[in-house]
Amino acid sequence: MKKVVLGVTGGIAAYKAAELARLFVRSGAAVHVVMTPAATEFVNPLTFQVLTGNQVYVNMYGPREEGKIQHIDLLKDTDVVVIAPATANTIAKMARGLADNLLSTLYLAACCPVVVVPSMNVDMYKHRAVQENLRILAEHGCQVMDPDAGELACGVYGRGRMPEPLDILAFTRAVLRPKDLAGLKTLVSAGPTREPLDPVRFLSNPSTGLMGYALARALKERGAEVILISGQTHLQAPMGVKRIEVTTTEEMYNAVMDYYHDCRIIIKAAAVSDYRPLKVSEQKVKKNSTTLTIELAKNRDILLELGKNKGERFLVGFAAETEDVYKHAQEKLTRKNLDLIVVNNLKEPGAGFAVKTNRVSLIERSGKVEELPLMEKAELAHHILDRIAMMLQKQ
Ligand code: CTP
Repeated sequence: MKKVVLGVTGGIAAYKAAELARLFVRSGAAVHVVMTPAATEFVNPLTFQVLTGNQVYVNMYGPREEGKIQHIDLLKDTDVVVIAPATANTIAKMARGLADNLLSTLYLAACCPVVVVPSMNVDMYKHRAVQENLRILAEHGCQVMDPDAGELACGVYGRGRMPEPLDILAFTRAVLRPKDLAGLKTLVSAGPTREPLDPVRFLSNPSTGLMGYALARALKERGAEVILISGQTHLQAPMGVKRIEVTTTEEMYNAVMDYYHDCRIIIKAAAVSDYRPLKVSEQKVKKNSTTLTIELAKNRDILLELGKNKGERFLVGFAAETEDVYKHAQEKLTRKNLDLIVVNNLKEPGAGFAVKTNRVSLIERSGKVEELPLMEKAELAHHILDRIAMMLQKQ
């Protein structure tokens, strides 16, 4: 996303558009803001000018650079037009092709994707006229984002609130992704499993689920249907993803077995506990002795089981290693009958658990190895999916 035109219309949520502009700028895009005259009653254009470092456009008929037609020139090389907040009035104009200000005129000339983020009172939003207009916009190819439910500026509760700027950024990114995995059913496992010792203690690992959740989000962005089987994390389920929450390895095993049958791609990013306490104490274990021995029983290996019943499915595993990284990973790939394994060298700086970045290598079934540089897990998720999409094409 190199160039964004952000259209701001006259609703109270216009103040949140300032944060959205900042997020687009921080993501590396050049942001050009077009405001309707009504929007300037809520936020001063100077705010956007300072945040984006670019001139803010409001008027159709002001002074202009020689030889330039403003609404056409602004659209040159634009990747996406985002209208947030979009009032009922602007939505109606867009649906009917009315061009009475710079933003509505620019919209008619836009050939790039257009994201519309409605924001208004709940009764206005529910009105048939507004709903019909939104349907028309969707038919015309606009990407309409659902408003959030919550307390509205008018004091009532209901659907109509402009979503958080971070969610609008994610939605916009998703719109721009190629839908190369459209229609595929996929399953991702993520996060740690926990094995209880007594009612207040458990054995686990420091996984936060970031990598698995990034993969689930990336799959959804590329058009796949996603089931996310997640151990206990603090993360929010990505929009449009079906999440099944589990705690122990046995629960994860059962959930995976319930859902894997009609999945084309299965990615096991979960950090699974290999062992569980043989005996779970019903009462809290007291510190009566100086040493304590806990006997552990081996858990079932979920991925190994999936590999035995692989069929036409594309199976991806993760390997977290601290020594002989490639040798161990290759051995896991063969033993578990995988198509691809993502190898974490836990000793590399920036790699592994509970950090936003990761540094991995991808090993294919054929033995081909790709070493990837350190990158954010969200970006890495798409690299992994690029590789999967490429391998699926060859199959
Ligand atoms: N895995 C699984 N079920 C288990 C253990 C692991 O499905 N009981 C999956 C993980 O989700 C991961 C892959 O197997 O995709 C490799 O996990 P890892 O812990 O690196 O390897 P293990 O097979 O457990 O081998 P070891 O602990 O001996 O390295």
